[in-house]
Amino acid sequence: MNREEISRIAHAGHPVAAPLDDDSVDRLLDHALPRGDEWLLDLGCGGGQWLLRALTGRPGVWAEGVDVSGAALAEARTAAGRLGVADHLVLHHMDAADFSPPRAYDVVLCVGAAHAFGGLLPALAAAREHLAPGGRVLVGDGFWEGEPSARAVELLGDLTDLPALVDRVVADGWVPVQGHISTRRELDAYEWAWTGSLASWALDHPDDPDSAQALATATTHRSEWLRAYRPAFGFATLLLRPAPA
Ligand SMILES: C[S@@+](CC[C@H](N)C(=O)[O-])C[C@H]1O[C@@H](n2cnc3c(N)ncnc32)[C@H](O)[C@@H]1O
Repeated sequence: MNREEISRIAHAGHPVAAPLDDDSVDRLLDHALPRGDEWLLDLGCGGGQWLLRALTGRPGVWAEGVDVSGAALAEARTAAGRLGVADHLVLHHMDAADFSPPRAYDVVLCVGAAHAFGGLLPALAAAREHLAPGGRVLVGDGFWEGEPSARAVELLGDLTDLPALVDRVVADGWVPVQGHISTRRELDAYEWAWTGSLASWALDHPDDPDSAQALATATTHRSEWLRAYRPAFGFATLLLRPAPA
């Protein structure tokens, strides 16, 4: 079982592939799409959950997503058909860093996918390239809420604390106009959904050759989360507009 397949199963039981609940996702999208006729781009869109929510109930919005996971994009395509929004959604199966579309977008999302560009600031630089005048960026990334263990840094990288994260974004030429700091409940719900979906899949497919590996991965991930990074990890999603030149 490859990482893509593990991620697809593990994310099946959660609103988006990041620690935000339904209300948080909806509230941020309401702020990001105030007119309802925007062109929206999601860099690292996964199964397209942000895009599908943005399109549902906003018939004037057009959305594009980019992801390296063909399986996740196939899920997005199927869900778009089910929701009746497929004609407003275009999906690109490629590295987001190589995406060079002919148009600019009113809103660029990059939630939980900054690693695709090598970190937060390179992700913002890519988003800026795609942004139409007056546009907004919705970016979600991790930070340290407490002192991380060495193992947490090994697993999640060399993050900063939240004030430093926001300072870096502001120094990079952005103005935060909205935001959401994931609550403990959202952080825990995301990890329980991730580990629980994978473990449940393993238990429901005892004869599948990947069953034992899936259960072992869920167990290891849960242990790393509880021991290594739960005490220190936080996640912030910021709605940004470019600072005046
Ligand atoms: C944690 S998921 C977040 C998905 C989505 N943004 C969400 O919040 O629901 C990270 C996604 O980034 C994608 N990804 C990783 N590297 C990428 C790259 N170089 N180009 C495009 N997508 C990438 C993964 O396939 C995965 O779908």
